Amino acid sequence: MVASLDLTDARTFMEHDPLEFFAEVRASEPVYWHASSDGRPGFWVVTGYTDVVSCYGASDALASGRGTVLDVLLRGDDSAGGRMLAVTDRPRHRELRALMWRALSPKVLGTVALKIEERTAALVEAALGPEPFDFATRVAEHVPMNTICDLLSIPDADRPDLLRWSKGALTGADELDSLESRNELLLYFMDLAQRRRADPGDDVISTIATGLIQGEPLSLEEVALNCYSLIIGGDESSRVSAVSTVKALAEHPGQWRALRAGDVDPDTAVEEALRWATPSFHFARTATRDHVIGGRRIRAGDIVTLWNISANNDERAFAEPRTLDLSRSPNKHVALGHGPHYCLGAFLGRAELRALLSVLARTVRHVEITGPATRIESNFLNGYRSLPVRFLPG
Ligand code: HEM
Repeated sequence: MVASLDLTDARTFMEHDPLEFFAEVRASEPVYWHASSDGRPGFWVVTGYTDVVSCYGASDALASGRGTVLDVLLRGDDSAGGRMLAVTDRPRHRELRALMWRALSPKVLGTVALKIEERTAALVEAALGPEPFDFATRVAEHVPMNTICDLLSIPDADRPDLLRWSKGALTGADELDSLESRNELLLYFMDLAQRRRADPGDDVISTIATGLIQGEPLSLEEVALNCYSLIIGGDESSRVSAVSTVKALAEHPGQWRALRAGDVDPDTAVEEALRWATPSFHFARTATRDHVIGGRRIRAGDIVTLWNISANNDERAFAEPRTLDLSRSPNKHVALGHGPHYCLGAFLGRAELRALLSVLARTVRHVEITGPATRIESNFLNGYRSLPVRFLPG
């Protein structure tokens, strides 16, 4: 069984249930070596909660600089390594993170959270009624992108392009499409970085463009890469979390009733929504030295993949993990990562889900799925590109 699923294939989880597969892996061989074909390297697969958490914490032995997504690592090194926050290691990572944190801390973002709720309410209210609609394209995709664009002070007219490129970059039709989308995003941000450096405002781009690391300003390309990382990091993951959350609520009427009745704490509900959605199947690292994980010897240079989807459904860490329980507490899931690279946008991601839950509970009486949801074809992004639903008001 363990060897039978190809984790490098974007279609694998369209055809196989990841939760069933990883439950078997955890029971039989929780850390295993996955061979690859076509001359590409093999890699380690880490599935148990405790091992995944300790790997995230062991950034000295497991580095991010070569890349953190399996596909990228199998093709070679990440071209943004050492320049973009998520793929930079200590000591530079620490300084770059502190700089970006200045623009993304909860203190700075307080007012942004209010706008999230307004935007979500307007989108949900416009979709209310007996007519089915696609929740993914009609509601979910407009909140995260606009929120990040607000932070970056992106003009309204440019936003549809950014959304298209962002979608293309991660889940484009093919490799060329993804590459073109990434280039468009980078060029766009380099231009903006140059203008904000000359005439700074109080937005995130200006903060990064005028900040210093080890006494030096970042290059325009580094500023652009880190703006791009906010879009990529914050758009897709939040969007798929929202879609998975609505799907989960429609499929669990008891939990939906509890939410509407105000019987669940909104904060615990958000954490369970995140655990349930687990928008990134995995993140990856490269071993910098020989290292033991779950009793297996990892060699320096080996690729190590950490399967969040498995850790978040590990029955040794979560009682009845396949039961949606919006009151689950404690709920120390790894949907937002763990350790030094813990999600920089966690506050925003949570605020978006919290707004969605509160708007739904307030304005919608009945949520119904009206057709099949379409899975995203990916071994990285876990979720649905479309979700036909009907929201009845009440
Ligand atoms: C890092 C998930 C929202 C920006 C991460 C990591 C995860 C994650 C798992 C760790 C990656 C690793 O260890 O290699 C999510 C989820 C979100 C979300 C599930 C929504 C529900 C956001 C938002 C932003 C953002 C809204 C930006 C506005 C980032 C950045 C990093 C990161 C910049 C890199 C941090 C570092 O390397 O120090 N995210 N994220 N994320 N996320 Fe998020």
